[in-house]
Amino acid sequence: MRILVTGGAGFIGSNFVRRTLATRDSVTPVVLDAFTYAAHPDNLRDERGAELCEVVRGDVRDAELVDRLVARVDAVVHFAAESHNDNSLLDADPFIGTNITGTVTVARACTRHGVRLHHVSTDEVYGDLALDDPARFTPETPYRPSSPYSASKAAADHFVRAWERSHGLAATISNCSNNYGPRQHPEKLIPRQICGLIDGRRPRVYGDGANVRDWIHVDDHNDAVWAVLDRGEPGRTYLIGAEGERANVDVVGDLLECFGRDRGDFDRVTDRPGHDRRYAIDPASTRALGWAPRHPDLRAGLAETVAWYRAHEDWWRPAAAAAEARYRRRERTLG
Ligand code: NAD
Ligand code: DAU
Repeated sequence: MRILVTGGAGFIGSNFVRRTLATRDSVTPVVLDAFTYAAHPDNLRDERGAELCEVVRGDVRDAELVDRLVARVDAVVHFAAESHNDNSLLDADPFIGTNITGTVTVARACTRHGVRLHHVSTDEVYGDLALDDPARFTPETPYRPSSPYSASKAAADHFVRAWERSHGLAATISNCSNNYGPRQHPEKLIPRQICGLIDGRRPRVYGDGANVRDWIHVDDHNDAVWAVLDRGEPGRTYLIGAEGERANVDVVGDLLECFGRDRGDFDRVTDRPGHDRRYAIDPASTRALGWAPRHPDLRAGLAETVAWYRAHEDWWRPAAAAAEARYRRRERTLG
C-alpha cells in the first residue's frame, strides 16, 4: 500500500510517518510538504541524517503536483495545514489558502483518481463549551468555529463532504482534540512553556487560565487515524479524544512540577481574542472501531515530553527563538 501524507514534516504528520514505518511493513509513505516555518527537516530523518521515506517539497495548492502524486498512491492522509490559532488572528490569509484551497485541491485529485482520502481535522470546528456544561462534542454537534483557523478547518470539512456527496469522493474525516508529545512546534502551549522553563523563564498563561483542553498523546491520535483507515466507513466522521480534559493552569502547574518549581510560579498575560473556553470529545465513534488510547496518564506523558525537549535542544532552539519574537509582537499588539 502506498500512502501520500500531506504535511508529513510537521508535528502530527511526521509522527504518523514514523509510527507507520515502525508498525506496518506493507505500507510505503510518500510525504508532500511545503516546509513552512512549522516543519522541521529532522522530523523525517533518522539519527544518521538519512530520510525515512520519499519526501516531496511542494504545496498542497499546486494542483498539477498533487494530481501527479495522488495518481501514484492508494490513499491520502491529509495533515497539511496552517495550525496555530494565534497566527490566524494576526493574518488569516495563509489559513484560507492552505486549509481551504489546499484541501479542495487534494479532494479533487483523489476524486479524479478514485483514491481514498482521510482528512485530518480538529475539534475546534464545534466551537466551545461552557466550563460547567456536562456535554461533549459528538459527530452530530453543529459547527460553530470561533477563530479564523477553526473557520478554515470547518470550511475544509464542508468541502470534503461536498465532494463526497456530489462527486463520489471516498472520504473519512477525523476531528481530534489537542495533541502533545515530541516534535511539537514551540509556539504551542506545552512546548512553549517547556522550552521557556529549560531557559529559566516563567510560563505565560492567557487570561484566567481556566480554559480547558482535552489532551491526547500524538501516538494515540495516529493510532486512531489508522483505525479509521483500516475500519472506518467512507462518508463518516470520527471524533478522536483520550478523555484528557485539563485546565491550562493545571497543565502549566504539572510542567512546573516537572522542573521542581512551585505550581503557581507563572505569569498571566493578555487573553487570546475570542478564546475558546472548553473543548471535550466524546470518542465513542472511534472507540467503536476497536481503538483505545495507550497513554491515558497525562502527567506521565508530560514528564516524557519534558525529557524529550531536554534531550533535543538543537531541534527546538531556532524555532523557539522565532516563535518568541512573534509572541513579543503579539503582546505589543494586544497590550
Ligand atoms: P504543524 O503546524 O506542526 O504541521 C503542519 C505541516 O503542514 C508542516 O509540516 C507544514 O510545512 C505543512 N504545510 C503547511 N502549509 C502547507 C502547504 N500549503 N502545502 C504543503 N504543506 C504545508 O501542524 P500539526 O499540529 O502537526 O497539525 C497537523 C494537522 O492536524 C492539521 O491539519 C491540524 O489542523 C490537525 N490537528 C492538529 C491538532 C493539534 O493539537 N496540533 C489537533 C487536531 C487536529
Ligand atoms: O483542539 C485542537 C487544536 O488544538 C488544534 O486544531 C490546533 O491546531 C492546535 O494548535 C490546538 O489549538 P489550541 O489553540 O487549543 O492550542 P495552543 O497550544 O495554542 O493553546 C492551548 C491553550 O493554551 C489555549 O487555551 C491557549 C492557551 N495558551 C497558549 C499559549 C501558546 C496559553 O495560555 N499560553 C500560551 O503561551
